[in-house]
Amino acid sequence: MVVLITGGAGYIGSHTCVELLQAGYEIIVLDNYRNSHPESLKRVEQITGRGFKVYRGDLLDEKSIEKVFIENNIEAVIHFAGLKAVGESVQIPLMYYECNINGTIKLCNVMKKYNVKNLVFSSSATVYGVPERIPISEDAALEAQSPYGRTKQMIEEILRDLYVSDQEWSIALLRYFNPIGAHESGLIGEAPNGIPNNLMPYITQVAIGKLKVLNIFGNKYPTKDGTGVRDYIHVVDLAKGHLKALEKVSSATGVEAYNLGTGKGYSVLEIVEAFEKAANIKIPYRIVEPRKGDIAICYADPSKARRELGWTAEKEIEEMCMDSWRWQSRNPNGYVEDSIVLQ
Ligand code: WQD
Repeated sequence: MVVLITGGAGYIGSHTCVELLQAGYEIIVLDNYRNSHPESLKRVEQITGRGFKVYRGDLLDEKSIEKVFIENNIEAVIHFAGLKAVGESVQIPLMYYECNINGTIKLCNVMKKYNVKNLVFSSSATVYGVPERIPISEDAALEAQSPYGRTKQMIEEILRDLYVSDQEWSIALLRYFNPIGAHESGLIGEAPNGIPNNLMPYITQVAIGKLKVLNIFGNKYPTKDGTGVRDYIHVVDLAKGHLKALEKVSSATGVEAYNLGTGKGYSVLEIVEAFEKAANIKIPYRIVEPRKGDIAICYADPSKARRELGWTAEKEIEEMCMDSWRWQSRNPNGYVEDSIVLQ
């Protein structure tokens, strides 16, 4: 099967490309490299020993999407491409609505034109907002609290309406919890632009000395040690969830949402402790004010994905920390080739 991966050069996209290639799929990648680096795709080829076509293009340019469909017999799409920083989305909401929503609409228009109606969409646990119940199940209320989260929530609604208009569509909405870790090779991983927003890349940059100290956003939450609790999931487990979702959309029509999480919550301090043990490095930290928009506790009820996709996260927090550390220590500048030229 030939699968188009939009945003395939990104953190979760590149890990999913590895799993798809190793499972025997033929893949085509479309990416604009706004939040990613072409080097990640060279590393995907290095890991798998398999080549694949790459198109540089933006989903807002419908012609660049159509070129991919004209030149290849696409049978399904995994759609990662989009902007994904919560804080940034508050500053530039129109950019987020245009890129994420218009980009998805243009993609679906081209898919429809070429009669490709199998879609796996990269959604997010942020669609739940402040959860009523923990663990969170897929039937919980959707109340995203940021423009970024609202783009994901609106796109889910758009895709449900698309199915109502044409029941040949088959769509999986994958709600990610907190992806961390990296492929065991240390060749691909999370490479945020600038100062990391997320916890694990911030910790690993403190560990390599790029950042001085970890700021822990508040320790007065109603949790075991007062710091925020999240459902951290290994990015390779997340990638494998996409293969299961692809199998599902290739075999049945309809629209279904799935939580991709472990069902376990860890606090910030527990993550720091697990990382220190895995990397054998002390992480200096200070407690600062809570971050605006943060919630206290968030972790998944992943039973629907287990029941309907036959998928369960397998990797434990120690492996997530070790793999994050291996990637960062071997790639201190992410995918940018080291500027130091050996004489
Ligand atoms: C985790 C915990 C922070 C950084 C975000 C997005 C979500 C998804 C995953 C896209 C929280 C604490 C963090 C730091 C800290 N991305 N923290 N110091 O906010 O749960 O989710 O990333 O889909 O959409 O919202 O992840 O890693 O930012 O924070 O104390 O420097 O670590 O308060 O408790 P979050 P995070």
